[in-house]
Amino acid sequence: MKDFLGIQLPIIQAPMAGVQDHRLAAAVSNAGGLGSLPCAMLSPEALRSELDALKAATDRPFNLNFFAHTPPTPDTDSERRWRQALAPYYREFGIDPDSITSGPGRMPFNEETAAVVEEFRPAVISFHFGLPEPALVERVRKAGARILSTATTVEEALWLEEHGADAIIAQGLEAGGHRGIFLTKDMTTQMGTFALLPQIVAAVKIPVIAAGGIADARGVKAALDLGAVAAQVGTAFLLCPEATTKPVHREALKSRQARHTAMTNLFSGGPARGIVNRVMRELGPISPEAPEFPLATSAIAPLRAAAEATCSGDFSPLWCGQNASGCREHSAAEIVERLVP
Ligand SMILES: Cc1cc2nc3c(=O)[nH]c(=O)nc-3n(C[C@H](O)[C@H](O)[C@H](O)COP(=O)(O)O)c2cc1C
Repeated sequence: MKDFLGIQLPIIQAPMAGVQDHRLAAAVSNAGGLGSLPCAMLSPEALRSELDALKAATDRPFNLNFFAHTPPTPDTDSERRWRQALAPYYREFGIDPDSITSGPGRMPFNEETAAVVEEFRPAVISFHFGLPEPALVERVRKAGARILSTATTVEEALWLEEHGADAIIAQGLEAGGHRGIFLTKDMTTQMGTFALLPQIVAAVKIPVIAAGGIADARGVKAALDLGAVAAQVGTAFLLCPEATTKPVHREALKSRQARHTAMTNLFSGGPARGIVNRVMRELGPISPEAPEFPLATSAIAPLRAAAEATCSGDFSPLWCGQNASGCREHSAAEIVERLVP
């Protein structure tokens, strides 16, 4: 790992958009793992300021994570159907649906973000939902970064290897947050980490990183035994003081509720794993009315805000993997220590 990613320990802190900034990334990098900064929801100005802060907080390697999805064309019919599905809740919270603006939610990696990467020259860049167009991948490579991307099937791993990834993140079905699935929408193709990992290791020639359901040193050891070079761990870091996880999310993670997670498309339009809450029970967890990723985000956002104002997580994406047993209110350095086999 020292040669490949420049890190001491085989531990990568999963980039987690919405629940962390440079502080968690710096703490993990300083502890000898690879800290990751989720960049998909940052404007270029916010990205620059986060990178300045990250560089000031660590001189160790870190990973910048971007999305590589193809933005769907907004469709007024599907937006209308989605708002109709949410209408009873708008009434309950006294929200005027006409006041809600629709927006893209998350932007894919583009020319502007490539320019920031060229300026800051991070050691590692990881992508979720495939890879950007070849010219952008080339710019990242020329900027000196190792390129990682998520595969949720053997086919996706082979595609990523062929299109220029330096390593594959094998994301099992247990993983919290969004699935990096990009070659199909068929969820029956998705499998658990310890079924997926050895099959990807056997299929590709590049290094493979295991993600999903890994919560302690035994899990990391098992992943290494199955051929992974490192483990990418997300959920176990969610209660760290360095994370920005909201109070309703922290309470859910600490409760028995965290034992029941499901794949849902209600919060963004794309399949993602979170703790089952009221809106997931009542509308889903998968709703055919939710527009494509990431277009479902803007219509549900005001409900989330209204519910959170009353300390309720009923409409929040409470992202969490199937194994929250590693979640502790410990510093990120202590969590890293608990993960080292
Ligand atoms: C709260 C949360 C947010 C996430 N956001 C991202 C993201 O922005 N980019 C990404 O590549 N993966 C994201 N993921 C997925 C992780 O990269 C990783 O696959 C997952 O956390 C591993 O499973 P675990 O949560 O069981 O450890 C997120 C996961 C969580 C829990």
